[in-house]
Amino acid sequence: MASQENWNRTSLASSSSSARSIKYPPGPTSIFPNKLLHEFINNPTQTLMTITNEYGEISHFKFGRQHVYILNNPDYIENVLVKDYKNFKKSRGLQVSKRLLGEGLVTSEGDYHDRQRRIIQPAFLPNRVKKYGGIVTEYAEGMCMNWNDGENLDIHKSMVNLTSAIISKAVLGSDIKSTEGSQVGDDLLTCAEYFNRLLMPFGELIEKIPILPINKGFKQAKKRLDMIVFNMIKEHRDNQTEDSQKTDLLYTLLDAQDSDAGINRMTDTQLRDEVMTIFLAGHETTANALTWTFYLLSQYPTVEAKLYEELKLVLGISNEIQNDNTNKNEPKSQRLRIPTVDDLPKLEYTEKVVREAMRLYPPAWTLGRQAINDYNLDGYVIQAKSIILMSQYVMHRNPKYFPEPELFYPERWTRESKSQLPRFCYFPFGGGIRGCIGEALAWMEGTLILATVCRHWRMVHDPSHKVELKPLITLRPKYGMKMELKLKKY
Ligand code: HEM
Repeated sequence: MASQENWNRTSLASSSSSARSIKYPPGPTSIFPNKLLHEFINNPTQTLMTITNEYGEISHFKFGRQHVYILNNPDYIENVLVKDYKNFKKSRGLQVSKRLLGEGLVTSEGDYHDRQRRIIQPAFLPNRVKKYGGIVTEYAEGMCMNWNDGENLDIHKSMVNLTSAIISKAVLGSDIKSTEGSQVGDDLLTCAEYFNRLLMPFGELIEKIPILPINKGFKQAKKRLDMIVFNMIKEHRDNQTEDSQKTDLLYTLLDAQDSDAGINRMTDTQLRDEVMTIFLAGHETTANALTWTFYLLSQYPTVEAKLYEELKLVLGISNEIQNDNTNKNEPKSQRLRIPTVDDLPKLEYTEKVVREAMRLYPPAWTLGRQAINDYNLDGYVIQAKSIILMSQYVMHRNPKYFPEPELFYPERWTRESKSQLPRFCYFPFGGGIRGCIGEALAWMEGTLILATVCRHWRMVHDPSHKVELKPLITLRPKYGMKMELKLKKY
């Protein structure tokens, strides 16, 4: 079998237009090429794991005529994302999402991207992010106030509602109606599934038949999301005055548009694309991270108890008041105050819990790039136009860096381990020039929401409810996440 594989590889390489003999890294070949594709479509995370476990740090396979490489070595990933980033552009997997995101920060390339990043970056610098903390906890506490002991809910939906309201208010200076918020998650799912279909063989034919229900579904979902974004823009335009207090990102974008009369002036469509991108990229990932965190806490009661100990220590009122017996019926947890950004340095274990949850369930589970020119890596020549996949889901389970990788063990994140691990063995936010602009916001938001919720509430997962991955653009729970809420009565 091995020699058959080698023969296939050499003959394919030498029959390429460049007629060079190309050496490929090991990887799966099949006399049934559709089998691999089928596996990828049905279970991409497991397929990537299986290939990597079998073939190592660099592997190769073909989808039709497309060469695909999987990298599972932190240094190789650093080369692609940081050192030699100029030789790579975003791969087709992301290009399809331009149908919704247009030329926003996630999907645009080159000088245009760099210019837009410079305009948007200040909204995500640490001193600005700090100011968003109050909104994060106010909204999280508002959500908890509406919960009832023993109530069952889909915590994924709750997290999407919460984080979409937070990004709208904190960064974009807008309120979205709760009815709009509750539809956003479903609309995003419709769009993500649509993009997945477009990526399948002959997928682009789908768009040529507008009457197909899948096209209609996408159009309607996009229309609803557009409505939210156009409303935000309209409200800001209507209120745009000389007032220097108007500092939110949407005003910054409008100002940038107005002050730039040159040929590079941002068009209204580009403005819409940036706002849509920040709105969507800025909440769905965080919502997934928190959903998986609550799920893991429900499976690991000792971690949950330790987390609560930290919350009591950091947010507890003084011992004297804790021991006062005047209000015996009040659960002690209700005496924990709402956290603030100033508590973050002390909420070390809480942060570790979020970090460890994003190791096992990274919201962005794989990154794709396409080589612009031929690229040398580990003695192989990766030809121009090849696709490179770097999967957080797979790398974060590498036992070389994370012993007992399937174990949810926040304690593994000691200061030493963080400083000793190679930079790209843990990369939930990507890295380099295209790394996540919202990383600081996401850490602050994730940690503060977890602390705000867990000081009152524990969640019990209904074991009859199936938990499965749905890896689309982000890693969602396929059937949502049904939880029973329990008010803490320690
Ligand atoms: C847990 C939460 C989050 C995760 C795991 C996450 C993950 C990522 C990753 C992996 C990338 C790089 C994609 C690539 O290289 O192809 C990225 C880019 C990006 N993220 Fe996030 N993100 C999160 C939260 C946020 C938030 C809160 C915002 C706020 C707006 C945001 C906005 C963006 C934008 C605009 C980009 C594109 C940056 C560029 O290309 O210049 N993300 N994110």
